[in-house]
Amino acid sequence: MKVKILGAGSIGNHLAQAARRMGWQVAVVDNDVKALERMKSNIYPARYGLWDDTIELYEAGKEPKTGFDIIMIGTPPHIRMKLALESLMEKPKLLHLEKPLCTPFLEYINEFSQNLKNSETIVTVGYDHGVAESVEAVINYLKQNIIGNILTIDVEFREHWRGIFAAHPWLNGPRDSYLGFWRQGGGAGCEHSHALHLWQTFAEASGWQEINDIKAIFDLQKKGGADYDQLAAFLLKTRDNKIGRVVQDVITYPTKKWARLQGNHGFIEWICNSVPVGDVVRYQIEGQDLVERIFPKKRPDDFYRLMLHYQKLINGEIKPESSPLHFNKGLSIMNILHNTYPIETT
Ligand SMILES: NC(=O)c1ccc[n+]([C@@H]2O[C@H](COP(=O)([O-])OP(=O)(O)OC[C@H]3O[C@@H](n4cnc5c(N)ncnc54)[C@H](O)[C@@H]3O)[C@@H](O)[C@H]2O)c1
Repeated sequence: MKVKILGAGSIGNHLAQAARRMGWQVAVVDNDVKALERMKSNIYPARYGLWDDTIELYEAGKEPKTGFDIIMIGTPPHIRMKLALESLMEKPKLLHLEKPLCTPFLEYINEFSQNLKNSETIVTVGYDHGVAESVEAVINYLKQNIIGNILTIDVEFREHWRGIFAAHPWLNGPRDSYLGFWRQGGGAGCEHSHALHLWQTFAEASGWQEINDIKAIFDLQKKGGADYDQLAAFLLKTRDNKIGRVVQDVITYPTKKWARLQGNHGFIEWICNSVPVGDVVRYQIEGQDLVERIFPKKRPDDFYRLMLHYQKLINGEIKPESSPLHFNKGLSIMNILHNTYPIETT
């Protein structure tokens, strides 16, 4: 399997290492030579112990344009969809677009969707938590109805972005990257949209119909040259009148990444990285003892799971439409953000 990754930043390193762990050939492309150097001499060896000499590095424009089975786009959100459109023309078997799919302005989305109709490429959006072992366990419990009918779903991804900046020591703060600008796909609403995606994934597994009403509030901040929402809260309602809630922020410390599903016969709770060793799923069926399962993992394992999922998508073991990472699912999150950010006032 030959993989091309656009963007040698934080996610580019994770994706490259996970693809190498699969034994796949990897080429990484960046338009910033310093980012390529940083990947080789700093980020990759610091995270994974040693630079992997088999990874090919290319300055953008000098990279091969054919022969890749998988293309992954790990550039900032406002530099995604034009590259996605160009990559689709290369006809890879699978095209992975990082989350959030684009910015709330949905640039190039119509053009991309139009081209996708005539394409055989499987397109995914990188909401990696959607294929975590712990999340798959919750999905299975929901499909088996272990806590009865689901009455409400809450998901929170509340994480002070000091953690993100710790992974980007070359940035001085939010204004140095897309992260500090909601119009570029940064801020809490876009950056932590994993929570909206998980809500949608759990709602679907609970048999709920699609979301058709959303109320949102954004705590918008203009400071230090940046312009972003430090907190985004969403109330969601489905076509069959089920109601739930999502909160995302870049101010909570220690981090809380959590979901809770209340059924008429009990509850399920999902906690990401709740113990030093991994994710936790707890559930209690009314009248029975609380059950707690630990799913050991480290951060690189999230991306290895992603690659295992992609292998199954390419082999045909999983149907693209049934994948939580299917393009349409990432697009519907972007539509929520498009319909709720104060776009009309800009
Ligand atoms: N799935 C996850 O859990 C996860 C984790 C981290 C980041 N991300 C997402 O990945 C995206 C990138 O985040 P990051 O933290 O890696 O950013 P980053 O700034 O560390 O890296 C982005 C890289 O893209 C490069 N780039 C810009 N334009 C390019 C072009 N035209 N061609 C090639 N390279 C180009 C930049 O030079 C930079 O090196 C964001 O959308 C972010 O939300 C997802």
